[in-house]
Amino acid sequence: MNQEFANDVKAGLTAESKYLLPKYFYDARGSWLFQQIMQLPEYYLTKCESDVITNNTERALKLFSRGNKRFNVIDMGVGDGLKTKILLEYLVGQKANFEYSAIDLSTAIMEILEDSINAAFPDMDYRPMNMDYFAALEQLAANSKKNVRKVLLFLGSNIGNFTNEETVAFLTKVKGYLQKGDLLIVGFDLKKRPEIIYKAYNDTKGTTAAFNLNLLHRINSELGGNFKPNYFRFYPFYNPQNGELQSYLVSQKKQTVEIKALDLTIEFDQWEAIHTELSKKYTLNEIEDLAEQAGFKVEQHLVDGKGYFVDTVLTV
Ligand code: AVJ
Repeated sequence: MNQEFANDVKAGLTAESKYLLPKYFYDARGSWLFQQIMQLPEYYLTKCESDVITNNTERALKLFSRGNKRFNVIDMGVGDGLKTKILLEYLVGQKANFEYSAIDLSTAIMEILEDSINAAFPDMDYRPMNMDYFAALEQLAANSKKNVRKVLLFLGSNIGNFTNEETVAFLTKVKGYLQKGDLLIVGFDLKKRPEIIYKAYNDTKGTTAAFNLNLLHRINSELGGNFKPNYFRFYPFYNPQNGELQSYLVSQKKQTVEIKALDLTIEFDQWEAIHTELSKKYTLNEIEDLAEQAGFKVEQHLVDGKGYFVDTVLTV
């Protein structure tokens, strides 16, 4: 049993306002569902960030190899690597002097990534790291070579899962692993017409609903729960002022759920909700403010053609 998962589920479901953490979405089925989400017409984030990367490969290589340095591309929360592979393709084609370190907590997705990396870039200097971000950064720091620039990627608006407070804390901690000349590139989803954002999380096929409900299936199979997922309804909600897209699973009736491995019985009132995810949206000003609070300098904003998504280049 995954003890951390067990502890976090217990803390979340016994809290005054119930919650589950989004990092647990990505078991084998959840990773597959997220891959389906990325292909939905409504889910513009992946398409827009792919557009940014496709249009900036040359600029990226110049930036990364500035001063003729070898560099290590460190991909935090890589997932299936859909977007990074666009960049890797270019870097490998240009015979760039680099290595690639891919970090993800999900074992399921790391296996899929590994196969596709080995097939597409068999000779690339590749280091898969199936662990959390800071365990990986610790390892990389211990083995880090002088004169190899760190290029940290935190793409896909993974950062949107954090509150602003958590973002500043996270960026500040990441900064502790960087030296002058290193780079951090963060993908942020931008504020835009609220309907567009809402629809990205309320798709017509119900894939996002299934992705959220999968958390309950995961608790059932890994912790011996008896959730009836169809007694819950997925409800996303967007607040255009603070940019918070909040996701919930709402109990449609009064019900009791037992989770054997936690020795836990949980009561749900009718219409009581479990918070499952924050997917935050930003303005460029808000991004600059967060970066500066963490002590980073904003070098450039790489925005897609529609103005929906930005990869912001930060330096220390
Ligand atoms: C992987 C966290 C960026 O918040 O948009 C997609 C996950 N949740 N649809 C996001 C997600 C619902 C996604 N991130």
